[in-house]
Amino acid sequence: MSTLDVTQLDLEQITLPARNVEAYLSAFLRHRPLPENLKRAVAYGLLGGGKLVRPILVIRCCEAVGGRPEQALAPAAAIEMVHAFSLVHDDLPAMDDDDLRRGRPTLHKQEGEAMAVLAGDAMLSLAFELIATRMRSADTAFAVIRELSIGTNDMIAGQVQDTLPPAEEIAEDPIDRLELIHKNKTGALLRAACRMGAICGGAAAAELAALTRYAEAVGLMFQAVDDLLDVTSTTDELGKAAHKDADQGKLTYPGVLGVEGTRDQITRLHAKAHAALESFDRRADPLRELCDYLAVRQK
Ligand code: IPE
Ligand code: IPE
Ligand code: MG
Ligand code: MG
Ligand code: MG
Repeated sequence: MSTLDVTQLDLEQITLPARNVEAYLSAFLRHRPLPENLKRAVAYGLLGGGKLVRPILVIRCCEAVGGRPEQALAPAAAIEMVHAFSLVHDDLPAMDDDDLRRGRPTLHKQEGEAMAVLAGDAMLSLAFELIATRMRSADTAFAVIRELSIGTNDMIAGQVQDTLPPAEEIAEDPIDRLELIHKNKTGALLRAACRMGAICGGAAAAELAALTRYAEAVGLMFQAVDDLLDVTSTTDELGKAAHKDADQGKLTYPGVLGVEGTRDQITRLHAKAHAALESFDRRADPLRELCDYLAVRQK
């Protein structure tokens, strides 16, 4: 991993499912009757510039257990909607108060705060509508909704722990506290993504458990990299404001472990994610490559 750098990776290949998901979301939105200004706001928050990591995970986990990507397309699109909702609300003045996201003005800067709140609300419930109306098997849809609702609520719990003064001590040790917050605010949706994909592909219990371990390692690693980039990168490179976490008093990996300690942690979590995939054959290679990419991503 220490020798890996982003230029050695075939990013085109790693992100292949993303384009289908964007097209699917865009078609879903086009055909769903909604006020035009709301549609415009949802499209702005949802499409154009995101890495689509969660939908890629859904589809690649489905494939890793022998499923076809089409089986996982609706859940993949749905989780990107929940993610986009979380970002739109995360950027609001009452939360992280950010003006820039994906190299563009944040949604509340573009369309006003009321619309940003409402477009976020809409994305959250459209996600569940999409699953309930597009999935053929009611049993699979039920299981997927279970995962997505738990993941979403854990993410919201993490946002509360990250943003508001704690009502109760969640953990004494700062590293435990940090891990708990990150596990919730970021890990929970990545975990849901992997489990939803595995369920769509008809995973056996042991496969589901292994992909859950993979997701938990990748989830923590993902936020460790996000925290690291906040310190080491620039606003131009990231397309969102850099060097903000410390000023906003956020509990972050670099804040607790320093930059080098954070890099070590990323290496450890990267190895842990790979180890979780040991029992899988080559069908899990895209998950291995995605994990490599997420460890060294620059934005
Ligand atoms: C940013 O998520 C918020 C975190 C959970 C750290 P992403 O880095 O996946 O954001 P986009 O969707 O690619 O812009
Ligand atoms: C956001 O974490 C996590 C969620 C939106 C759930 P951050 O606040 O660190 O994400 P960025 O840095 O604004 O993308
Ligand atoms: Mg935040
Ligand atoms: Mg933020
Ligand atoms: Mg951040």
